[in-house]
Amino acid sequence: HQSLKQQAIDILRMNDRGGYTVPTARLYPYQWEWDSVFAALGFATFDRDRAWEEIETLFSGQWDDGMVPHIIFHKTDPDYFPGPEMWKSNTVPPSSGHSQPPVAASAMLTMMQTGTDMDRERAKALFHKLYAWHRWFHTYRDPDNTGVVGIIHPWESGRDNCPDWDIGMGRIVVPDDLGDLPRRDITHVDPSERPTAEQYNRYLAIVKFGHECQWDHLEIARNGPFFMVDPCVQFALMRGDRDLAELATEFGEPGIRDEAEAWLKHSKAGCDSFWSDDVGGHVAKDLRTGGLSTAFTNASAMALYADAGSPDQQKRLTAEIAAILDHCSFGFPSWDPRDAQFESRRYWRGPIWSVVNYMIGIGLSEKGETALAERLRNDTRRAVETSGFFEYFDPLTGEGLGGKLFTWTAAIHLAWAM
Ligand code: DGY
Repeated sequence: HQSLKQQAIDILRMNDRGGYTVPTARLYPYQWEWDSVFAALGFATFDRDRAWEEIETLFSGQWDDGMVPHIIFHKTDPDYFPGPEMWKSNTVPPSSGHSQPPVAASAMLTMMQTGTDMDRERAKALFHKLYAWHRWFHTYRDPDNTGVVGIIHPWESGRDNCPDWDIGMGRIVVPDDLGDLPRRDITHVDPSERPTAEQYNRYLAIVKFGHECQWDHLEIARNGPFFMVDPCVQFALMRGDRDLAELATEFGEPGIRDEAEAWLKHSKAGCDSFWSDDVGGHVAKDLRTGGLSTAFTNASAMALYADAGSPDQQKRLTAEIAAILDHCSFGFPSWDPRDAQFESRRYWRGPIWSVVNYMIGIGLSEKGETALAERLRNDTRRAVETSGFFEYFDPLTGEGLGGKLFTWTAAIHLAWAM
């Protein structure tokens, strides 16, 4: 009987496609941005060289404008839809046309702080690319300099079908010529654990708008079908800017340090604009209509990780975290289980996710909420002990859902929850 640690290592090795890992075979056969960064944290516990290679390969897909795309199509694979022919990125390698939560700065800083001169050199070599990516977010996802970045697609949040996006998705007009979508995901995973057909039509409507304007990101932010604030992207970026500033100090780049600190200050002030008193946390917001989402999510719980919110708001949201944990056996649910829209098995409408738990846990622990942080770390480990290294888990039962032998679940087990 192999230890879970050894199984996790084997999963990372098995999902290695040579310089990058796939999140899991078949369902996700390419390199995904945040999956890859968390994979690097897992590799860093047993193979530092391979950990850096993961991030270097990711940056090999960076666009000229600084964007790091959410999927890089290194080798075409018919098992995935929508593939490169739908995105039409016109880049080498081909990629999707938007980004994903910018978690690399924080991972790179962690790897450098726990590493040797080699880690420092590898981080330094990537530093200007990392900076360009953060600048891209502030430029193209906050064109009016409000201190809050928007996302142009639910997939950019990484929390694809969370009810958070229902407000923005509801306004998307599906083009007549979209046709029947040749979905592949529901041939790999039970459809009840995946987004619906209606959601997929809207996802593809945004992709169509994007390639029709040649991925002109200012045009998409101003006139595209979808533009919403995601607490997860905003908080990951804030934490990332903090960590970028620290890397800049390390590498003797005072100009970049000052810029990153100014971004952070402006972003902190912006967070009031998507705070909900009704919910007791920061929530998603439709930037076209001003509409706020209606429930607390695992992204709301990331506020402490970014040190967002006033002391009163932080107190309130921490109480909310504790109250929600009382309603599930495994934290932290991606939608409030006390709300009618909660679905314990459907992807980001209820299930728990190791990587988000990791970021929430770090935030809680830094704020001295040790018991809550430990609860989340234990739950993350227990879910794996109960079911194995699944993509996500039912918060009521710990049942494993979605893809199996999953890279980021294995990586977080090694880097945090073991
Ligand atoms: C998918 O295909 O479900 C991915 O999450 C999109 O990024």
